[in-house]
Amino acid sequence: MTLPKKVRIVEVGPRDGLQNEAGVVATAVKIELIHLLTDAGLTAIEATAFVSPKWVPQMADNAEVMAGIRRKPGVAYPVLVPNMNGFDAALAAGVGEIAVFGAASEAFSRKNINCSIAESLARFEPVAQAAKQHGLSVRGYVSCVAGCPYQGVVEPAAVAEVAAELYRMGCYEISLGDTIGVGTPGKIQAMLSAVAKAVPMEKLAVHFHDTYGQALANLYAAMELGVATMDSSVAGLGGCPYAKGASGNVATEDVVYLLNGLGIQTGVDIDLVFEAGRFICGQLQRTPASKVARAMAAKKAA
Ligand code: HMG
Ligand code: MG
Repeated sequence: MTLPKKVRIVEVGPRDGLQNEAGVVATAVKIELIHLLTDAGLTAIEATAFVSPKWVPQMADNAEVMAGIRRKPGVAYPVLVPNMNGFDAALAAGVGEIAVFGAASEAFSRKNINCSIAESLARFEPVAQAAKQHGLSVRGYVSCVAGCPYQGVVEPAAVAEVAAELYRMGCYEISLGDTIGVGTPGKIQAMLSAVAKAVPMEKLAVHFHDTYGQALANLYAAMELGVATMDSSVAGLGGCPYAKGASGNVATEDVVYLLNGLGIQTGVDIDLVFEAGRFICGQLQRTPASKVARAMAAKKAA
């Protein structure tokens, strides 16, 4: 199969990246990061999450972030919403797109959102309906598509089942999350092939954490099967607070470098993503997890 000519990158750093920080990240810093990512040409930037502040304190300033960002026309700023409570708050904050998030693993679902998979789907149904009524787009996530930190093995059929339900509810796209980065290309292709029997391949996105360093290989394997939307996080920030030891998403800089090298269009300026990464890593006082960012920094310093 030929690789796609164009790929849509969904930047998740301001949400997936910053939700996992131990220290408080100032709202103004989050807003500046989102502006820098917008300037870099990203057209989908997951901005925050309308989840319980008791569960994830880092996202407690969700409404302030949404009020503070300058929204560029043509750019989507989706937010996570787990239930109607979160939907009402997101609607009041004037969001245009939401994402519901389920899991293919019972154990992870309970740890992450405190309910079973079936209960989570029953909660998402009214959220999807309300979103439709208000003209908001809905994205769906499935976590633990290649393995679970609590129950281990996750069968592709379990991923397909949850993905199919989210698609049936009206999610325009299903993002398949390797939450703990354990997948390898053959396993990812087998999982995608199983899911594509229930949801068209062009409606699937991939969301790979890079815990075991397999994310770029897995992205290539996903593109071989026709996937053309991928989530990534500037500087490789992140992890899930309910998946201990899981490192960040694959870095946006690394993804853009790979796609540039393959001649695949993204509309993203790698130098400006690098600058956004430099900004947030400066604020967090750390070096980027992105190898490309580190190489670019060394080259600029030489
Ligand atoms: P719960 O405790 O079962 O909720 O949590 P509840 O309905 O029983 O309500 C308890 C209290 O929370 C009540 O307040 C509610 O009002 C409040 P109280 O009466 O005690 O004062 N509450 C809320 N407050 C704010 N926003 C809300 C909300 N809902 C209830 N939306 C709940 C259930 C889902 C709320 C909780 O478990 C939660 O917020 N979980 C979020 C976990 C999370 O954000 N995880 C990280 C994101 S997922 C991820 O990273 C994976 C992904 O990247 C893909 C991948 O990598 O695989 C997407
Ligand atoms: Mg994630």
